Amino acid sequence: DKILVTCECAPNIALIKYWGKLNEELIIPLNGSISITLDRDVLSSKTSLILLKTNNRNIQITLNNKTQVFNEGDLSKNSNDIINKKRFFTMLNKVRQNCILSDPFEYEIKIKSSNNFPTACGLASSASGFAALAHCLSKAYGYKGDVSELARLGSGSACRSCFGGFVKWTTGENSFDSLASRLFPSNHWEEMNIIALILEDGKKSVSSTHGMKESVQTSDLLKERVKIVENERLLNMENFVREKNFDEFARLVVQDSNTFHAVCLDTYPPLFYMNDKSKEIVKFVHEYNNLDSSLKLAYSFDAGPNCFLFVLDQHLNELLFLLRNIYFRNFDLKDKVVSNNLSKKE
Ligand code: DP6
Repeated sequence: DKILVTCECAPNIALIKYWGKLNEELIIPLNGSISITLDRDVLSSKTSLILLKTNNRNIQITLNNKTQVFNEGDLSKNSNDIINKKRFFTMLNKVRQNCILSDPFEYEIKIKSSNNFPTACGLASSASGFAALAHCLSKAYGYKGDVSELARLGSGSACRSCFGGFVKWTTGENSFDSLASRLFPSNHWEEMNIIALILEDGKKSVSSTHGMKESVQTSDLLKERVKIVENERLLNMENFVREKNFDEFARLVVQDSNTFHAVCLDTYPPLFYMNDKSKEIVKFVHEYNNLDSSLKLAYSFDAGPNCFLFVLDQHLNELLFLLRNIYFRNFDLKDKVVSNNLSKKE
């Protein structure tokens, strides 16, 4: 009469980004994307779910010590909502309609989730959070479908956090074929390091969900980006990672991040996610790379000012030295997370 499951998932950072939906309700993207999932030991969302056979049909959700209780099917929007209820119920109903439990609607649901990193630090926690929730729901109910489809219904980028290592999410036309799958395990490229530079903590910007909707409606550049991603970039990125060709990999990561931010600027009214500090980092990376004939460092920015750097082992110490002792001396660096993920377990 009681089912308890726990799951832990890590955030992922897109190398080829998702920006724009073909279908808003089902969260089907206009283009495929490729990401790396970070190391769970460094950053993760841990979620536990309890199903209780009682007469009560309440749903209780606790996120980082904030609790909210709501009723089955309650879609009312509240300013203090800690979860998007509509997306939550889409996930829940999907599971309950295709599971091994004979009485899936007969349970009270209690969910508790927390991040091992401050939500205010500005790192996307929704991907890891929804991926962990999807895994919990899937295990608790004995879901017969694909767990990445479930996670996607919570938040698009979350479907990629269902797996470790290098992950690809393909567009698809229907809900059941817009899925994420692993391209390569994390130990495929053991020398790879990801450094998250937290330049701004918790400052509110336009949400990804809202921002990409505006871009789809107003940006012509977005249409061009979708084509080039689908026709070239996804395949190229997969090959560069397969061959562990850092030079080409770095160029493409940087290019795709920049094209994404160009689309943001082409959106009307424009979306500014990178700030002056972000641009300083961009300048620093290009100066650093210019010292050598091949690239040593790549950057990528999501819908916020914080930066992800990609660097191989052989240059890691030199880079950290530069960042700590020279570069960040005159920088108000709030925090810095080093995720040396790719040689570790998933
Ligand atoms: C810039 O997955 O947060 O991080 O599907 O509406 O929940 P929804 O959006 P979300 O968008 C992430 C956008 C991005 C790029 C990426 O992760 O691919």
